[in-house]
Amino acid sequence: MNRRFPLVLVSLALLAAPAFAEDDPMSPLAIRKRSFADMGAAFKAINDQMKQPRPVMMLVKAYAQQLVRYSKEPAPGVWFAPGSGPAPGVKTSAKTEIWSRPDEFNKLWAAYGVQANKLLAAAAARDADAVSQAVKDTGASCAACHRAFRSDDK
Ligand code: HEC
Repeated sequence: MNRRFPLVLVSLALLAAPAFAEDDPMSPLAIRKRSFADMGAAFKAINDQMKQPRPVMMLVKAYAQQLVRYSKEPAPGVWFAPGSGPAPGVKTSAKTEIWSRPDEFNKLWAAYGVQANKLLAAAAARDADAVSQAVKDTGASCAACHRAFRSDDK
């Protein structure tokens, strides 16, 4: 028998099965879902703060720092590791295009990083008008990626 045969079988099994168990809390899928949920919470907290008659810029700055921190995560490499995409039984709204058009995805991720940094700079300068504008622009950068690469954003 061909000595290579078992190796071929193992490779086939790896290709067919998702690389990580659905309930593994350290799988790329679980990590990115938690991280995006946290990004969403930070962004909401900024929006809530800006609705106050007197926004506390120190809080806005702290949440903006979080958004900048996340923008530095190697998004496609770790959060979107190969094998962590849509598959039968896997709950994800990440579109397969993330893996087939990585350049476009990376560009949108970088654009988000630019906006998050502007938001942080405006908060650090305690410039409420600049923060309001940067919140809009940052939200638009989130939405641009969700429109292109997230399936449940109809
Ligand atoms: C470059 C692409 C990209 C950018 C930029 C981006 N997202 Fe997302 N986001 C995604 C993808 C893809 C998913 C789906 C992840 C999955 O289900 O596997 C997602 C999921 C989410 C979720 C749902 C998380 C969950 O509980 O499953 C929230 C909330 C979210 N994003 C908020 C934000 C916010 C807020 C911003 C901007 C401050 C943002 N995202 C920027 C691509 C992006």
